Amino acid sequence: MNPINRRVLTLDEFTIQQFRAIPNATGELSTLLRDIGLAAKRINVEVNKAGLVDILGDAGHSNVQGEEVKKLDEYANTQLMGVLRHGISCAGISSEELDSFVPFDDELSRASKYVCCFDPLDGSSNIDVNISIGTIFGVYRRVTEKGELVREADFLQPGVRQVAAGYIIYGSSTMLVYATRRGVNGFTLDPSIGEFCLSHPNMSCPEEGKIYSVNHGNFFQYPKGVQHYIHRCQAKTKATGGPYSQRYTGSMVADLHRNLIKGGLFMYPSTQDNPKGKLRLQYECNPFAFIMEVAGGRATDGIQRILNIQPTSLHQRTPLFLGSKLMMEELEQCLLPLS
Ligand code: AHG
Repeated sequence: MNPINRRVLTLDEFTIQQFRAIPNATGELSTLLRDIGLAAKRINVEVNKAGLVDILGDAGHSNVQGEEVKKLDEYANTQLMGVLRHGISCAGISSEELDSFVPFDDELSRASKYVCCFDPLDGSSNIDVNISIGTIFGVYRRVTEKGELVREADFLQPGVRQVAAGYIIYGSSTMLVYATRRGVNGFTLDPSIGEFCLSHPNMSCPEEGKIYSVNHGNFFQYPKGVQHYIHRCQAKTKATGGPYSQRYTGSMVADLHRNLIKGGLFMYPSTQDNPKGKLRLQYECNPFAFIMEVAGGRATDGIQRILNIQPTSLHQRTPLFLGSKLMMEELEQCLLPLS
């Protein structure tokens, strides 16, 4: 076996190095990111076994060893909550899986400065068909005083106040990508050593892309401006920067990871049935809007910047458009109200 390549930075080494360079940094954020990395490794192990559920036992029932098989999204939620509760940097969480936020009521947690909002396993309807799924998270500095129990106000902050945001994609390889204001960096899990290793330093989203991602099945329910933009995408030729490709898995982590790397535009617009769209502001849209903006792209709800929306409830939904800068500019032209 070859010796470990010491020039490759692990997630822990990288975050410690990054935050060391910031005057007065306490290291709490790097600890929190390390905790999320730990939960991701545990979730990854179970996600990789998902195809065995039929022979080992259905979720909610007992497996052949007589153990109860947990639904993967519940499992992911428990793991994330567990590492953050027992870590030393997080004062509380809110999760797409839970009705309310959870304050951590022990001395160390109460003294922590961050809270975390997460979607533990997004795209879980794709598990049965072996398509990539993911975990999404956003980290905020709490607004309540250290020492107090966190309150709802700590979780209802606009996305622009995130100090870090990221996702884990359980795909052909497992990656953790996170952004701070200093940049976006991606780490691939090396299963032979069980470490996330820096594989995609300083990620940026190409200004122009040729991929648009949207659920075409809802086309006739979309606002006219969105329909107009989709028609423009379909009409692209070589002469107008095309042709474009339509790519949509139904798993936003997979769609956005690809678009971040290759350039592209992802949309989940409002529909007649769901005027506020489907995606959740705090668990899905804000983390990706933050990552995309740091990477040079843009994110809006069709009218305003996603990161400026003041949330009024934990599970609020919003239409979402995000991606490459120039594609977003063309979309925005199509969405302008007709005068
Ligand atoms: P879920 O976690 O319930 O599978 O939802 C996934 C999300 C998101 O990841 C994806 O882009 C979108 O919902 C897909 O929704 P549609 O099937 O309505 O297009």
